Amino acid sequence: MADYLLLNGPNLNRLGQREPDIYGAQTLADIEKACRAHAKARGADLDCRQSNHEGALIDALHEAEGRHKGVILNAGAFTHTSVALRDAIASIDVPVIEVHLSNIHAREPFRHQSMIAPVALGQIAGFGALSYILAIDALLSFVEKS
Ligand code: DQA
Repeated sequence: MADYLLLNGPNLNRLGQREPDIYGAQTLADIEKACRAHAKARGADLDCRQSNHEGALIDALHEAEGRHKGVILNAGAFTHTSVALRDAIASIDVPVIEVHLSNIHAREPFRHQSMIAPVALGQIAGFGALSYILAIDALLSFVEKS
């Protein structure tokens, strides 16, 4: 059982091929590898999961309680639509950081709203793959202080 969970939602398994001008050339495997190495350098280990299914993401969030000290979540398009994901985050006593590769606030209006932001510890968006690394640093610092 790892200290932290990196959870990626729909279409993020397509990174590398998917709209590289927006999301970059790195694959999800590249990003997960870099995140694991970054967490390890800070003395933490990381589980990495991805699903295209809303219910599977909800199950993973529920299972995080008692298993992980924190979660880094890129919920993809469910960010903008899913009250159920929002409620899942609110239902667990585990800090969740919302992450996006792109700056959702600088894109189409339908991406400006995040259903999950009000129940997340914070949001990091717009730094490409670096958003995940910044989220690890933020989450570890938060958990280590609390
Ligand atoms: C995303 C932004 C979302 O609007 C989009 O639906 C994604 C990726 C990002 O990482 O920039 O799938 O979460």
